[in-house]
Amino acid sequence: MNILVIHGPNLHLLGKRKPELYGKATLAELDKAIKKHAAGLGVKVRIFQSNCEGAIIDLLTANAPWADALVINPAAYTHYSYAIRDTIEALGLPAAEVHLTDISKREPFRKVSVIKPVCRAQFKGEGSASYFKALDFCASLKK
Ligand code: DQA
Repeated sequence: MNILVIHGPNLHLLGKRKPELYGKATLAELDKAIKKHAAGLGVKVRIFQSNCEGAIIDLLTANAPWADALVINPAAYTHYSYAIRDTIEALGLPAAEVHLTDISKREPFRKVSVIKPVCRAQFKGEGSASYFKALDFCASLKK
């Protein structure tokens, strides 16, 4: 099984960005842990990070033929990108939405996810474990 993993804007700053909220691990460390978890599940991953909405849409489109499922942390785009929402819906890939923090317990604008309705599941508030649970969920889906 092939799982596409996408990190949205500002996640390249992990480790420096509000470590009390997002943790001390860098994106490279998180990606290493994701790859290790995926290997344990026997699934292949392709991992990308982008700060640009259009680039995320292009990555989704280009990698969809390879992917059986999608794990996406849309970051701030979670709250307002109807464009990314529409791409996930159009591609029809089973998707799991991920957040390091619990967006339901933060500022009011973070409580809304326009991505959630086009995802099969949402994992939030557990740091890197949110990604691992999303991988577990995707791996459990039938190909
Ligand atoms: C985030 C939560 C978003 O609200 C925020 O804009 C992010 C990261 C998370 O992983 O907790 O950049 O998606």
